[in-house]
Amino acid sequence: MTETPPAAASQASRSARDPGSRAHENRLDGSPLIEVKGLGKTYHTARGALTLFESLELTVERGEMVAIVGQSGAGKSTLLHILGALDAASQGTVYCASINVSNLSSRQAAAFRNREIGYVWQFHYLLPEFTAQENVAMPLLARGVRKQEAMALAANWLKEVDLDDRTGHRPGELSGGEQQRVALARALVNSPRLLLADEPTGDLDQVTAGRIFELIQRLHASHGLTSILVTHNLELASRCTRVLRLERGQLTQTAAAGTGG
Ligand SMILES: Nc1ncnc2c1ncn2[C@@H]1O[C@H](COP(=O)(O)OP(=O)(O)O)[C@@H](O)[C@H]1O
Ligand SMILES: [Mg+2]
Repeated sequence: MTETPPAAASQASRSARDPGSRAHENRLDGSPLIEVKGLGKTYHTARGALTLFESLELTVERGEMVAIVGQSGAGKSTLLHILGALDAASQGTVYCASINVSNLSSRQAAAFRNREIGYVWQFHYLLPEFTAQENVAMPLLARGVRKQEAMALAANWLKEVDLDDRTGHRPGELSGGEQQRVALARALVNSPRLLLADEPTGDLDQVTAGRIFELIQRLHASHGLTSILVTHNLELASRCTRVLRLERGQLTQTAAAGTGG
């Protein structure tokens, strides 16, 4: 039997050995933000098993801005999902912000994401019936912050992404670049340590893509973030501190890497 144990039992055994428990949180701040060792990921589908990684390794130091490039289907999104505790590894260990995320219950994973991860996707996934300000306030309200305070913090964040004159607009009343700015503000409003961005400029024209990328660079620096960006745009990737190519289940550093400035 390979049934998942009931949540309570798994919780009890976890507290004794899980590196995500408090003892592990005391790791020195100089440790890498991300340490992936021997990561394996296999999807089991009706048509058989699809193995994306067998022994993937990745270390990302705090403050790095890393680009991941690679062909469609290489597993870039899957890797980000595993780092952000949205998907589970099949084998190996994944430490993210000193938590062993390969090992969390779904409730722990949700709390971890809310606290540590800002996620931006190619499509903004803003809620259409709410204003920009309400969309940005949403993660704060979900955490129990009172409405007035959440709305004030959201307004500050819209200022940070240069949208203070669009607070009352609904997503349908914003341009693609503006929608992505709102999505960035929403991703960062809970002050996460890690920004995961999956083709954040993939749906934008070249000029707008460049502006959004510059905004990510600025927020990365001013908020002391560690950032991982998946992109098909090699010119934008080269502005990151490192460019990694995901190919045949392995990450290799490419020659082109900028200064991150
Ligand atoms: N939930 C899933 N179940 C089965 N196969 C999946 C699932 N998610 C992704 N895949 C497959 O895994 C491969 C990698 O997907 P993905 O990580 O989205 O690649 P990329 O982001 O590099 O384009 C693809 O072939 C895709 O079809
Ligand atoms: Mg993808």
